[in-house]
Amino acid sequence: MMVNNRLKGRIALITGASRGIGSAIAQRFAMEGAHTVLTARTVGGLEDTDDTIRKINGTESTLVPLDLTESDTIDQLGAALHERFGRIDIVIGNAGTLGELTPVNHLEPTTWDNIIALNVTANYRLIRSMDPLLKASDAGRAIFVTSRAAVDLNPFWGGYAASKAALEVLVKTYAQEVQHTNIRVNLVDPGRQQTAMRAKAFPGENPKNLRQPDEMTGVFVDLAESNFGQNGRTFEAYPEIFPK
Ligand SMILES: NC(=O)c1ccc[n+]([C@@H]2O[C@H](COP(=O)([O-])OP(=O)(O)OC[C@H]3O[C@@H](n4cnc5c(N)ncnc54)[C@H](OP(=O)(O)O)[C@@H]3O)[C@@H](O)[C@H]2O)c1
Repeated sequence: MMVNNRLKGRIALITGASRGIGSAIAQRFAMEGAHTVLTARTVGGLEDTDDTIRKINGTESTLVPLDLTESDTIDQLGAALHERFGRIDIVIGNAGTLGELTPVNHLEPTTWDNIIALNVTANYRLIRSMDPLLKASDAGRAIFVTSRAAVDLNPFWGGYAASKAALEVLVKTYAQEVQHTNIRVNLVDPGRQQTAMRAKAFPGENPKNLRQPDEMTGVFVDLAESNFGQNGRTFEAYPEIFPK
């Protein structure tokens, strides 16, 4: 596989890196020469991503199995990254859950709590814990994964849509707060991607009609580069067939 080195030497934390979009971002960042720190709950999935990355650039990733809804573990992650690297250059807040597609009045409180805990609270805790490490970088970059569902409202999508709308407001507020630092903070809407989440949302859909996550990772590289200057914006992922 080819290595392009647009992120050479950068340390990148990617949440939800055990499969789907997060795994694709991690693999692409490795192709670009970054050292990847991979988190998710499923150790086997993290190891699969790590195995692929070893084949890409011959380096080992740092694997951190954790449940992001247990918020204190995010502080522990921050402390461990500080001790090991002293800084973080790139944070990708990608992990997310659809919850259940159901009318708002039928949403179970436990489902609602889990959606908010992962899609909103975990990203707030990530910002809180990673901000000092991003400030220790010469060009800290934080990128959070959102969805059209936050603005194109549809019945049954209330929990997920509300969580992504809250995430966007939180992230754009943080972006304003760091405007005069070296940190740049943005969001990406990946569009329809062939992943487990998409299959859960649209079980009758032919997955062959969907793009693979590795076709749109270029926007994450663009936003993660040290010379990227825009801040507080939402970008749509664009198709990009990357040579393997
Ligand atoms: N696929 C699409 O079409 C689409 C469209 C718009 C936006 N998005 C967004 O893209 C992001 C990635 O979605 P995806 O489609 O790649 O979904 P996915 O295949 O379901 O992957 C979700 C990732 O989040 C991790 N995760 C879930 N619960 C977690 C928890 N409690 N603690 C830690 N990690 C957890 C999962 O790992 P474990 O299960 O191993 O923990 C997995 O790595 C999400 O934010 C989603 O909202 C996706």
